[in-house]
Amino acid sequence: MKPDLQQKFNELFNQPATAHFFAPGRINLIGEHIDYNGGLVLPASITFGTDLLIAENKEGIFRFRSLDFEDQLDIPLQEKYEKQGKEWFNYPLGVMQQFLLHQKPMKGLDMLFSGDVPVGSGLSSSASIEIVAAFAFNETFKSDFTKLELVQISKKVENDFIGVNSGIMDQFAVAFGEKEKALKLNCDTLEYEIVDCRLNEYVLAIINTNKPRKLSESKYNERVEQCQAALKDLNKELHLPYLCGINTAIFNKYEHLISDEVVKKRARHVIEENDRVKEASIVLESGDLKKFGELLYASHASLKDLYEVTGKELDTIVDFCKTQPTVAGGRMTGAGFGGCAIALVEAKSFDDFSKKLIPYYTEKIGYAPAVYNSQIGDGVKKM
Ligand code: GLA
Repeated sequence: MKPDLQQKFNELFNQPATAHFFAPGRINLIGEHIDYNGGLVLPASITFGTDLLIAENKEGIFRFRSLDFEDQLDIPLQEKYEKQGKEWFNYPLGVMQQFLLHQKPMKGLDMLFSGDVPVGSGLSSSASIEIVAAFAFNETFKSDFTKLELVQISKKVENDFIGVNSGIMDQFAVAFGEKEKALKLNCDTLEYEIVDCRLNEYVLAIINTNKPRKLSESKYNERVEQCQAALKDLNKELHLPYLCGINTAIFNKYEHLISDEVVKKRARHVIEENDRVKEASIVLESGDLKKFGELLYASHASLKDLYEVTGKELDTIVDFCKTQPTVAGGRMTGAGFGGCAIALVEAKSFDDFSKKLIPYYTEKIGYAPAVYNSQIGDGVKKM
């Protein structure tokens, strides 16, 4: 149960909060490391998320407090903000910097954040906090950004302020997500369709590897660079804006243009995964969850062998899933290198799945995973 946020706000700031906002985390069903290659992704917002309570103050100070972290920040309105170490408040501070860059007037705010998206778990706690802050500032200061613009400036926070060259999927899913729906997002045109996530007799288990957080940003940025190198090589003969501008059949004809074998593997994953998303969204809508599950396994295998972003923790979870007849499929979700996996598990066997997986994983890895039964919930909203 979340503590009484309003009461905590009062204690911290000596005034009541005037507004309450919420933004979820997200899972990605399929389409991994595709968004920065202009392809299709299939994410969904989850019921875990970040709450933000705010009230204006008369001192013109921005006060950042969190129930989850001790570090806090009090900062006046300035012409420019710089990243401060690695603290959590850099995400909303980066959003403020974006509002300044767009010449949006702001006034001092008391802010209390509280979240239950496990940090560093690949469920996008960072996009959740960026979007909740961007949405709250936009409402409070009547800044007139559209929801899509809020997504775009939040992505800029990640790229320019935090320093991760991520794509747009996370911020988009957190802002536009809908209860019990997935989003089929074209990351080139930013057009999207709502896909009914009818899981019938299945539920989605989210399994956190609990792998201690290491610096994965550099490995992520390296993958982005390898994709750019592949695109450059292919464009010796083609004219592609993005790697996902071709399908697997065309890639097979032109892959010889890529000289580096590792770069070639990365490109193959991206292009085949993009094709898989097209198929996956069709089978999901038709309710063929067995086939959907097979595509999840195929996606994981590609992320393991071609893109090399899984690691023994995520592989152990997916290997276990494959031994269970009650599981239709599973894969890592998010950037990888640790974080979470998802699995499509028969609802009636969920407890049994969790009870068997925990000792299996603990014995192989040396510490326990966490298994969540989070649902697909709403996107960002005012409460
Ligand atoms: C992270 C990034 C996203 C996306 C995924 C991998 O979550 O923030 O933009 O690239 O990794 O699919």
